[in-house]
Amino acid sequence: ILRRSYNTKALKHSQRSYSYIQPHASYKVAILGAGGGIGQPLALLVKMSPLVSALNLYDIANVKGVAADLSHCNTPAQVSDFTGASELANCLKGVNVVVIPAGVPRKPGMTRDDLFNINANIVKTLVEAVADNCPDAFIHVISNPVNSTVPIAAEVLKNKGVYDPKKLFGVTTLDVVRANTFVAQKKNLKLIDVDVPVVGGHAGITILPLLSKTNPSVAFTDEEVQELTVRIQNAGTEVVEAKAGAGSATLSMAYAAARFLGRNGVEAVISSELQGLTEFEQKALEALKPELKASIEKGVAFVQKQT
Ligand code: NAI
Repeated sequence: ILRRSYNTKALKHSQRSYSYIQPHASYKVAILGAGGGIGQPLALLVKMSPLVSALNLYDIANVKGVAADLSHCNTPAQVSDFTGASELANCLKGVNVVVIPAGVPRKPGMTRDDLFNINANIVKTLVEAVADNCPDAFIHVISNPVNSTVPIAAEVLKNKGVYDPKKLFGVTTLDVVRANTFVAQKKNLKLIDVDVPVVGGHAGITILPLLSKTNPSVAFTDEEVQELTVRIQNAGTEVVEAKAGAGSATLSMAYAAARFLGRNGVEAVISSELQGLTEFEQKALEALKPELKASIEKGVAFVQKQT
């Protein structure tokens, strides 16, 4: 429907029949951490969506200018800015989708887990406010370490009695985006056609691309599987090192997060992806489980310790 609505030739020829399938701007989206490296380009991409009627930008600083700037784009979303804890509740009231890229990013030499102590508190506080002000909203957690911040969000929502697992997401789409790009480059394929499922979590070996299930089907040598898997797992570090202290992935992350925004939340858990793995994938899956489990337990314990 969206692709059609942008097809101006078709529109000209059939204005009336297309008018009823015009995308209706009805979603209210809040971005928490909207002044940051991810928040700003993500706000721009969301502002470009014809489905969004309101875009609420929240940060502890520097968000007024971002909102003023974006508000000049002639798309339907009404942009509003909210600064500091006292304005958080107003930012969230009536919102359908909350995206959280608030917190500190990695610097060279850091793992995502090194961010835990700072970002755990930020995510906990923000999700408490979400639970109080828009408990039905879809919540997209970008702040790292995602393997722990999502369990933190889940525990907060459970404590508040508003947890719906279909509406809470850790945004790991960047791993899929990277896997698609690297496979297409390696195999000289048209980028737009390649789809590589990625399972597990979002840190190091917990990121597991299932290259054997690439669509359309592609044959890889063992060396290619090894090389691509390691590159996909460490792609974030490639960016952190290239930025040399100025942060981590922001533009590709904003693209991935904007692509991720869906309509109905989790519709199904596709466990069939985990059937028929290669020996390499099966071993990697077993190897990632203890680390992922430990990161989840760390997040759960962080919230339980404080309640
Ligand atoms: P940044 O430092 O450029 O921006 C973070 C923003 O959060 C800043 O504007 C800051 O003022 C704001 N902030 C800090 N405390 C806040 C609070 N209590 N409430 C609201 N806003 C607050 O960082 P960047 O590059 O935008 O990264 C943000 C997070 O996203 C990091 O934790 C980073 O590790 C993570 N990330 C996640 C990825 C993923 O694939 N899920 C990929 C890349 C980064």
